Amino acid sequence: MKKIRVLAAPTAFSVLMLSGGMAQAIEVDQIDWSAIPATEIPLFFPGYSSYQWIHSEEHDGARRVGEGRDCLSCHEGDEAEIGARIASGEVLEPHPIPGKRGLVNLTVQAAHDDDHLYIRTSWDTATGEPGQFHEYVRFTDGKWVEYGTHRGKEVVASGKAKASYEDRFSMLVGDGTGVPEFNDMGCWATCHNDMRFMANAPKSAEVKAHPLLGDEGLKRSDIRKYLPATRTAMDETGGWAETRTRAEIDQMKTDGAFLDLWQWRANRSNPVDFGGDDYVLEYRLFDAGKNAWFGNWDGGKGQPRHMLDPAVNNGRMALTEADFRNPAAPTLNADNRVPYDPEHAWQEGDLMYKYGNQQPEGSAAGNAATASFEGGRWTVVLKRKLNSGNPDDLPLASGNTYPVGFAVHDDSTTARWHYVSWPLTMSLGGTDAHVNAVSLK
Ligand code: HEC
Repeated sequence: MKKIRVLAAPTAFSVLMLSGGMAQAIEVDQIDWSAIPATEIPLFFPGYSSYQWIHSEEHDGARRVGEGRDCLSCHEGDEAEIGARIASGEVLEPHPIPGKRGLVNLTVQAAHDDDHLYIRTSWDTATGEPGQFHEYVRFTDGKWVEYGTHRGKEVVASGKAKASYEDRFSMLVGDGTGVPEFNDMGCWATCHNDMRFMANAPKSAEVKAHPLLGDEGLKRSDIRKYLPATRTAMDETGGWAETRTRAEIDQMKTDGAFLDLWQWRANRSNPVDFGGDDYVLEYRLFDAGKNAWFGNWDGGKGQPRHMLDPAVNNGRMALTEADFRNPAAPTLNADNRVPYDPEHAWQEGDLMYKYGNQQPEGSAAGNAATASFEGGRWTVVLKRKLNSGNPDDLPLASGNTYPVGFAVHDDSTTARWHYVSWPLTMSLGGTDAHVNAVSLK
């Protein structure tokens, strides 16, 4: 059995590269990461293994899971085998992506001071390229159509659109008491058969008609992660529609009965040096404020919201095929874009980004991030406040241990086509968790 490996022991407590006295606010580049232990965490491809599946007769461990046994106690060391079986479509994956690997090895280091938590993580990408591009639309036969999107979609599988979707690193964090099933089940506590791209996903019209989730409520048209406790009933298909009342769910949020979700996005947050800050309760929700990106696609009008500003782009208003996934192509930065002009004579083959970046604000700006890509490998450092005081963040404190789960999206994929860890733990200053954040002195 291969253990979750700690690669290096701390050699010194002096892990700060500071000249002179202690600075008030530590910058991530002042931390000597070589002196901080690294944990190697195998992430595997989970396919359709949802909350419902792990409790079903098809899962040999179901009874034990129901009794609160954690996954790792039976499965430690199984990651490569399980990942390969599922990614190939042998089990639990009805639409395998050709060539998809089963395993990603994630390296994680962590540190904290009195105010902040620092997470440094790295992994090899499947293609050796940074997945730093996201979705595109193309002007084809007189209208804008999907051109680059993720591999889970039929348009990509059939060759009608190209694969293009950003890489991501995600981390789910609990406080150990607010969502008890997260301690044993990890990410599986949030994953259900009726989420988008799963077997029982409802039609968008059904979601839109739902009083709490749809047009009259959260204005959603699909189902994303949710916690079982936010539903009054669940069966083998899930329980998306059986929501508790708004007041009950708001009370759960006040009580801290939710999970924090940090998502670093190579296209939608990295260009402005942020990792996203989300949380999971009755849905996968964004923290209050403004995200590091905006949607550039107006679905109602079937056209982009912004175009390149011709005044600063040599007269160009759109991208061309040559700009597709080209790091030298102009972006939709604030100083580079103007509102879309529907009267312009758009040409066959014009391309436009579906998203652009903006400066994040409020609680949604909770995770600062720096990232680098070298030798086919992403290295990402997140920095966040231990206790932001925001109602959509879980307060963390030195000396405590928290349940966590890690995930990576790679090679132009989203939703279930990712790699996940078993439920793990992270301590702030302890020694017994899978990841131990070293106290910076
Ligand atoms: C009591 C032991 C036990 C526990 C606890 C347990 N499992 Fe399993 N699980 C099994 C057995 C036995 C199998 C059958 C295949 C195997 O031996 O890997 C299995 C199969 C699986 C498979 C499919 C593997 C394949 O290749 O077919 C997945 C995915 C899985 N378990 C996930 C989980 C998750 C997630 C948890 C925790 C929420 C969990 N299991 C908890 C015993 C357990």
